[in-house]
Amino acid sequence: MIQDMNPAEATLTREKVLEENKRVHKLEDQSYLDRHPEQTNFFQARILNKTVNQVCSLIKPMKGDILELGCGTGYLYLEFLKRGYKITGVDLSAEMINVLESRIPKNCEKRSKLVVSDVESFAEIDDKKYSAIVVSALLHHLYDYESVIKMYCERLIPGGVFLVFFEPLKQNINSSIRYTMHKTLAGIDESLYRQQMMRKRISVLDGEYHHADYQRQFGGIDPHRVADVFTKEGLKIKKIEKYCARRFGLSSLLATCLFKTQNTFNLLAEK
Ligand SMILES: C[S@@+](CC[C@H](N)C(=O)[O-])C[C@H]1O[C@@H](n2cnc3c(N)ncnc32)[C@H](O)[C@@H]1O
Repeated sequence: MIQDMNPAEATLTREKVLEENKRVHKLEDQSYLDRHPEQTNFFQARILNKTVNQVCSLIKPMKGDILELGCGTGYLYLEFLKRGYKITGVDLSAEMINVLESRIPKNCEKRSKLVVSDVESFAEIDDKKYSAIVVSALLHHLYDYESVIKMYCERLIPGGVFLVFFEPLKQNINSSIRYTMHKTLAGIDESLYRQQMMRKRISVLDGEYHHADYQRQFGGIDPHRVADVFTKEGLKIKKIEKYCARRFGLSSLLATCLFKTQNTFNLLAEK
């Protein structure tokens, strides 16, 4: 179900969003995570570690398989693999999957399965049940993330967990002072980031992502709407976490703790 759509965006079809995602992720390479330091800086690394441990402690007694949708170059995937889990990763982009494949440690290969597919087609060919289904920075790329969540809730075993990680939050900053501080810090952070990318000779591709980042055109994703979908599918919400992710860890820390602004969320649900 798509809401809050402006007329210009209404011309984008499901096929066009898929095509744009294929096109833009083809431009990505080994430098994907270097290009996205907001996913690897000290602030986000701590959240990643804490969240992965939390998922593992919930599924530990079940020892079942994990499914990651939109696994990319392995940001979440390698964390679970490293902790001893058997995991299947699905991604639309053969280029992203190739980078991930080159990063799988030899002694983990038997526990790793990678599939190039869009998430909706994969649901049609795969009927396995999983003890955890995880996504990181995927939902905002989907034309209809609600149907995809519903589709995959069925693939969880009872007691299984669904993690939605690092999604752009539909935010609302009421205070104009806080909004100004938020924007100023974002501007400084972004300009330092661009200088750093230039120094490291890494190309910046965000201008390319306009259509592929489909849900950003509606201001991001409302975690409470995601929570409603899970609740209707019979899952319990264990946690919704909101914070401000920035290119640099210090900017994330300042924005989250001092300015109390938020632009990112994580959600954990249990069946
Ligand atoms: C922003 S990247 C995130 C990658 C990784 N999960 C991470 O957090 O670093 C989004 C990923 O979702 C994949 N993707 C986008 N639309 C998809 C779809 N419909 N089906 C499967 N994968 C998709 C892209 O190819 C890309 O690898």
